[in-house]
Parts: sequence; structure tokens; C-alpha cells
Amino acid sequence: MKFHGGIPGWFNFADFYDWVVQNAPDKARFVEVGALFGASSVYLQSRIVASKKDIKLDIVDTFDDKNLSMESSNLAMPFGGFRKTFDFFTRGRLGDNVRVCQMPSREHAGACKPGSLHFVFLDGSHAKLDVLQDISSYLNAMAPGGILGGHDVDIPDVAQAVQEAFGTRFVRFGVSCWYVQL
Ligand SMILES: C[S@@+](CC[C@H](N)C(=O)[O-])C[C@H]1O[C@@H](n2cnc3c(N)ncnc32)[C@H](O)[C@@H]1O
Repeated sequence: MKFHGGIPGWFNFADFYDWVVQNAPDKARFVEVGALFGASSVYLQSRIVASKKDIKLDIVDTFDDKNLSMESSNLAMPFGGFRKTFDFFTRGRLGDNVRVCQMPSREHAGACKPGSLHFVFLDGSHAKLDVLQDISSYLNAMAPGGILGGHDVDIPDVAQAVQEAFGTRFVRFGVSCWYVQL
């Protein structure tokens, strides 16, 4: 785990978020699945603000203390748990365009309007069946030309899920991201 912008996490894909925001339409809807303590979310929001585009961002995480690794648990304990740690690190750094959706990704995806999402980033569960489930849950909600991608394509489970869903159609980006343009 490393610190980015003073927040602990696994964020090493700033170049991907830079590229996505730069290429997004002026009015767009983004979803980030898997925030942990907010390192990637705060960075994405900073790029959205800098772009001056009208981009709405849903941050989706269960914030379930049972899912935390030992390292994360030790970090979250003094703050009183997962969600309180996220709130501490993100305080004042997420704007009115952002909704924090504390729920499983499948539930969030089911509530999204078909064709409404311009960017969905999957960094939740990295188990193969969960990644496949996330991909199929959000596909219907993607806007034409939208970007569906994720983190940790070097993890075999993630790579297998992405290959199973998209064959050779997906693109690798930077050290660890994948995406398809729909
Ligand atoms: C690898 S961490 C995210 C790291 C974060 N993006 C960062 O930059 O530090 C994965 C997160 O996904 C969340 N998560 C796992 N499965 C989920 C699901 N089905 N729905 C919503 N959140 C989920 C976990 O609670 C955890 O916070």
C-alpha cells in the first residue's frame, strides 16, 4: 500500500484517469467501483474539477469492514472502521457532482439507466466471477463510445475474466489497466 495525495491505497493509474477525463464529453457520467480509502477517487475528482467539464461521478463501495485486509484493518481501526476512514481522507475533497454509493456494485449497476454511463472503472473484487459479474452488470448501462475498464489486469483472475468477456478486443493501458471502448 502506498500514499497518493496523502491517502493510503493501491492507486497507480493516474495516467489512465488523466486520459479518460481528457477524452470525455463535456457532459458525462462516471462510475468508480472500489474506492477503499479514496486515493483513486480523490485524484479522479481533482482531474474532473480541473477539466471544467460537467461530469457526475458515482463512487461505489460496500465499505464492509469484513472485506479489509489486515494492513487496511490496522489502518482503519483508529478511525472507527472502513467508511469513517474513507470519510476522513476524502473530507472536503469530493464535490456536489459526486455521490458516494455504499452498496454492492451489482446493485448500483442495476439502478443505472441503460446507455447513460461514459466511464466505468472496475477496481472492486478481483475474483474472476466477480469481475465477469461487474462487466455484465454495467455493460447495458454504457453509453455508445463509453469506456469500460479496470485495474490489475496482471492478476490472472482479472485477465481471464476480461479475456472471457471481450476476447482480444480489450486494450492494456499503462502498468496495470485494461479498457474497451464501446
Ligand atoms: C483494491 S480496493 C480499491 C482501491 C482503490 N481504488 C485505491 O486506489 O486505493 C477494492 C475495493 O473494492 C471494494 N469492493 C469489493 N467488492 C465490491 C463490490 N462487489 N461492490 C462494491 N465495492 C466492492 C472493497 O470494499 C475495496 O474497498
